[in-house]
Amino acid sequence: MTHILTVIGARPQFIKAAAVSRQVARTSGLRETLIHTGQHYDANMSDVFFDELEMIKPTHHLGIGGGSHGAMTGQMLEAIENLLHIERPDVLMVYGDTNSTLAGALAASKVGIPVAHVEAGLRSFNKNMPEEINRILTDHCAEFLFTPTTTATRNLLREGLGVSRIVESGDVMYDAAVLFGQLAKTKGAGANRLGLPSSGYVLATIHRQENTDNPARLAAIFKGLEKVATEWPVILPIHPRTRKKLETAGLSSALSKLITIDPVGYLDMVGLERGADIIVTDSGGVQKEAFFHKVPCVTLRDETEWVELVEAGWNRLVPPDSDTCIAEAILAAFETSGSNIEPYGDGNAAEKIAAALKVIS
Ligand code: UD1
Ligand code: UDP
Repeated sequence: MTHILTVIGARPQFIKAAAVSRQVARTSGLRETLIHTGQHYDANMSDVFFDELEMIKPTHHLGIGGGSHGAMTGQMLEAIENLLHIERPDVLMVYGDTNSTLAGALAASKVGIPVAHVEAGLRSFNKNMPEEINRILTDHCAEFLFTPTTTATRNLLREGLGVSRIVESGDVMYDAAVLFGQLAKTKGAGANRLGLPSSGYVLATIHRQENTDNPARLAAIFKGLEKVATEWPVILPIHPRTRKKLETAGLSSALSKLITIDPVGYLDMVGLERGADIIVTDSGGVQKEAFFHKVPCVTLRDETEWVELVEAGWNRLVPPDSDTCIAEAILAAFETSGSNIEPYGDGNAAEKIAAALKVIS
């Protein structure tokens, strides 16, 4: 029996783990224990996903959220190391590129426990992003590198990470979209259930540090969205980081022109995405979900890890420096589409991950 100790802590990790843990539970010879670091802690950033996606409950909750990158990562590192001695897993599994990911990977590699990294090989080639450092270091600690795309596989090979460690599993977020997309429909999740306009709207999400912590960029983004809102309703489920940064920068008044709502669960988010005419985001996951639901996307960043969607025309990158350029780019994206591509696998990434981990113990 292979014992997998999984470390998760941030919103997108709950969604990815929901897809994989379900497969692990039905694979003989595997058992899983969850550690929740506490990085995301509001009910609508954490509990909602465990409830509606019927996830196994974390055995350990570290309660480490907020604070600087160093303080957060350091506290997690120490706490996870202690738990590794208690749980003695055969493998430690982490997802994505957050501080929780790095803390888990570092703790296990120092104790000599193999690391499995789901969503390995993504690169923005921008080391100013905390996520870029987290993902490079995690990949270089890992024995099992589960890549979502061929581009990600090539990135790892270029860094000298051996082919024997890489499994091109496909993207677990595609698995989640397939797995829970039907449930979202059955439950009527989305705009209607939330009492919002059910069509003819722009859906926006903004949370990335390089946007929220740069007052000029934050102002350009929200003034750009305000301009769009004179023509189309803009629905914004607002990340707690962004709400706080808008307050600090004295920009909260920009929200009055938008339909601002608290973060929603995954099922309502899928419903909102499906009903949108266009999605504006700086989120990694939401860029891909726009493509899964065939909604044109504008990404307010300088670069993206999901380059295939830009190349195929489903997504366009708009560096968020000018409110006018942002508004024009959003309006120009209406009713556009891209070429036919299938870069994220066949919706069975979790199965491939579970099969690869089965051989460990
Ligand atoms: C983190 C990840 C980012 C990921 C994002 C997903 C890192 C370095 N960043 O960014 O890669 O895209 O999660 O959403 O790991 N806060 C709350 N309540 C919560 C969670 C956060 O109020 O439930 C506030 C706190 O003030 C906190 C701030 O948001 O200090 C930022 O949270 P943090 O987890 O540090 O970073 P994110 O921006 O969420
Ligand atoms: N999401 C959600 N509710 C929201 C906003 C986003 O469930 O109010 C989901 C979204 O559908 C996607 C994931 O959260 O599956 C993306 O997480 P986030 O944007 O926080 O992080 P990133 O993907 O950029 O790391």
